[in-house]
Amino acid sequence: MSNFVMELFHVLQPWIPHLLIVSIVGFVFQKFGGSHIQPWFFAKVYNPSLSSYHVKLRSMKKEHFDSMKNHVSADPALRKKGALRILEIGPGPGYNFEFYPANSELTVVEVNPFFEEQFFKKQADHPHIKMDRFVVGFAESMKGVPDNSIDIVVSTMVLCSVRSIEGALQEIRRVLAPGGKYYFWEHIREYQYLWVLFVQHLLSYTIYDLVFGCRLNRKSDEVIKTNKCGFSSIEQQRFRTPLQPGFDKLYIFHSAHVKGIATK
Ligand SMILES: C[S@@+](CC[C@H](N)C(=O)[O-])C[C@H]1O[C@@H](n2cnc3c(N)ncnc32)[C@H](O)[C@@H]1O
Repeated sequence: MSNFVMELFHVLQPWIPHLLIVSIVGFVFQKFGGSHIQPWFFAKVYNPSLSSYHVKLRSMKKEHFDSMKNHVSADPALRKKGALRILEIGPGPGYNFEFYPANSELTVVEVNPFFEEQFFKKQADHPHIKMDRFVVGFAESMKGVPDNSIDIVVSTMVLCSVRSIEGALQEIRRVLAPGGKYYFWEHIREYQYLWVLFVQHLLSYTIYDLVFGCRLNRKSDEVIKTNKCGFSSIEQQRFRTPLQPGFDKLYIFHSAHVKGIATK
């Protein structure tokens, strides 16, 4: 037992400064937080730092989303224009918008209102798509989005944050048109290294949830596979994001991923 504790300490040592900073931020949120500081911190301070993740994985993500361009809209008017109606849940600052086919009409459902202004400003950076609607709300309850109205739903690193994965999947299936596709790319519970899983549990029920609104130990892949939520087919595969030395090593706690496409 003491060997295990020593080994854990040895492995955790390089991350102690990071964990300390996160703990202090978590404490401040808890003490003075209210409902505004966490979403503001996430949108303005933390989320831009995610850009290195997206830059590093850009070509892999491009490949994952590539088949979208072959999809044909269920809406005759959009079909005529060669356009698709896409819904992204929890887009944050919109790192995925570059992957959407030309003429796409984009609706987003995002719980954090601090991203709304950025969404419409992004139109200038992505003239090939139309920024259609920003709905402030939860993926588990997308009342503003009609049944069978969407060709493609996208989520990247969102199922770790939703209150109910099953609830979100049911809503995604409801809004998709028959034959519509759900593209997902999510970090998941560690499946290889026990010590990483241990730390994931530790962080998930404490500061990570508080500061980032994220559970590192979610089994999203298993929920999607076993629950199915009425999708006619689900193709998915687990993978790990590559880690470089230095600060990048921190990503070990969300290196385990799943990507896939579910068809209604
Ligand atoms: C880790 S960020 C990922 C952002 C973006 N998808 C990306 O890949 O960079 C999680 C995002 O999901 C949003 N989010 C969290 N819970 C949500 C929910 N229940 N419904 C919709 N969006 C949610 C957060 O506000 C945040 O923008």
